[in-house]
Amino acid sequence: MSGLLTEIDHVAIAVRDLDAALDYYRDTFGATVDHRELIESDGVEEALIKVADSYIQLLTPTREDSPVAKYLERNGEGLHHVGYRVDDCAVALQAVKDAGGRVIDEAPRPGSRGTTVAFVHPKGALGTLIELVQE
Ligand code: CO
Repeated sequence: MSGLLTEIDHVAIAVRDLDAALDYYRDTFGATVDHRELIESDGVEEALIKVADSYIQLLTPTREDSPVAKYLERNGEGLHHVGYRVDDCAVALQAVKDAGGRVIDEAPRPGSRGTTVAFVHPKGALGTLIELVQE
């Protein structure tokens, strides 16, 4: 354990075609989907592939104004964010604020799989979009 971060929860990869991405992981690595969920509020559909106690999260936009749609337009497919597991999302988010970091979510909110999450802005976080995930 490393301070407030207890584990890697997931590595999120933005893709244009979720089914094609899942085909790639299945055909190449024999990987199967553990969980699939439409998150209306974020305008995304995600599929989770379990790797030990962590996940690969394949993420695709469901509408044009989704942040992931904008990301794909700018950057193309690829690494979108890293989810770090924490014991208490509010405590970890406050630690980011106390350190002068920029947050996207001012307060923890519901994530997929019944988790509680908050996003930290890549500006001020070494260029990486960070998601704090409390199970
Ligand atoms: Co995520």
